[in-house]
Amino acid sequence: MDRHFWNGKKVLITGGYGFLGSRVVNILRNINCNVQLILFRRKDFDLRKESDVERLFKNNKEIDIVIHLAGDVGGIGYNRAYPGEICFNNLMMNTLVMEYSRRYKVKKFVGIGSVCSYPKFSPIPLKEENLWNGYPEETNAPYGLAKKMMLVQGQAYHQQFGFNGIHLLMINLYGPGDNFDPENSHVIAGLVRKFCEAKINEKNSVMLWGTGKASREFLYVEDAAQAIVLAAEKYNSPEPVNIGSGKEITIENLAHMIAKLTDFRGEIIWDTSKPDGQPRRCLDVSRAEREFGFRAKTSLEEGLKRTIDWYFQQIKER
Ligand SMILES: NC(=O)c1ccc[n+]([C@@H]2O[C@H](COP(=O)([O-])OP(=O)(O)OC[C@H]3O[C@@H](n4cnc5c(N)ncnc54)[C@H](OP(=O)(O)O)[C@@H]3O)[C@@H](O)[C@H]2O)c1
Repeated sequence: MDRHFWNGKKVLITGGYGFLGSRVVNILRNINCNVQLILFRRKDFDLRKESDVERLFKNNKEIDIVIHLAGDVGGIGYNRAYPGEICFNNLMMNTLVMEYSRRYKVKKFVGIGSVCSYPKFSPIPLKEENLWNGYPEETNAPYGLAKKMMLVQGQAYHQQFGFNGIHLLMINLYGPGDNFDPENSHVIAGLVRKFCEAKINEKNSVMLWGTGKASREFLYVEDAAQAIVLAAEKYNSPEPVNIGSGKEITIENLAHMIAKLTDFRGEIIWDTSKPDGQPRRCLDVSRAEREFGFRAKTSLEEGLKRTIDWYFQQIKER
């Protein structure tokens, strides 16, 4: 991290108390320079409301950088249950935060996009230049397309106003402190919860969604935060950039890995009436490395161990 870059900067972080946002905040607090961070909770400023966004920017003049992490996000079950709200909430938050960043002459806007913006069927690894070659997988299209409009808005603002907005296409994240709520957790948190609880309750089987044949790529949350900070420092183009580990694993192999790490020895049953979601996900991560030197450091096994240890600890403390 470049201490000199951040020194004296005023940075607004939306979603700064969230799973990913809190890691970005930790990095910036530990850089050991005079950076001013503006953080808030949604109960104080609801970013879906223009009057709140306007008040936020009026109260905090001369912001240098906005890192926009606030979002309405969840796993496949959540996306299936609330597509309308997810679409509306993300569109409103992104559109308003970017528009007020422009009006208040913010020097740089860092938008957090998603791998869900990619077409359902696209050559693997997913490359940024193929982002527009098809419609996203249906269950996450409202989320993925709302995110994608932030990219379009940023590019349009760049063209008309010279706005410096970057867009990071973030792969699925995981790590300690993830959302383990059965209603809206992502894949890894959902699997860790099921296997840890099965182990503790001495169950002899675990039932999982889908066929297990779909593949995914995962990025440890602290690596993702590093990528955001590096991109904020070094990347200044309206072209989107993939952020991931570049390593693909099937859900079946992932489930076996988590079963082993949690010492669960029972049977894994696949509920094939439930959807798999997108068939394959794996990013070409070369642009991020080339443009701002980002490469993921944490192996999946190491990240899973930390996540599982953390979750077992939470269960014990309950
Ligand atoms: N987790 C992933 O796997 C993943 C993958 C790709 C992209 N992303 C993106 O990364 C970003 C952070 O995700 P996360 O996993 O850290 O999610 P998270 O833990 O749920 O955090 C979301 C944050 O957004 C804030 N927020 C939500 N609705 C808001 C509203 N109406 N007004 C103001 N703030 C609001 C929340 O504020 P409070 O703290 O006040 O509740 C929270 O801090 C999101 O944009 C998400 O789409 C995440």
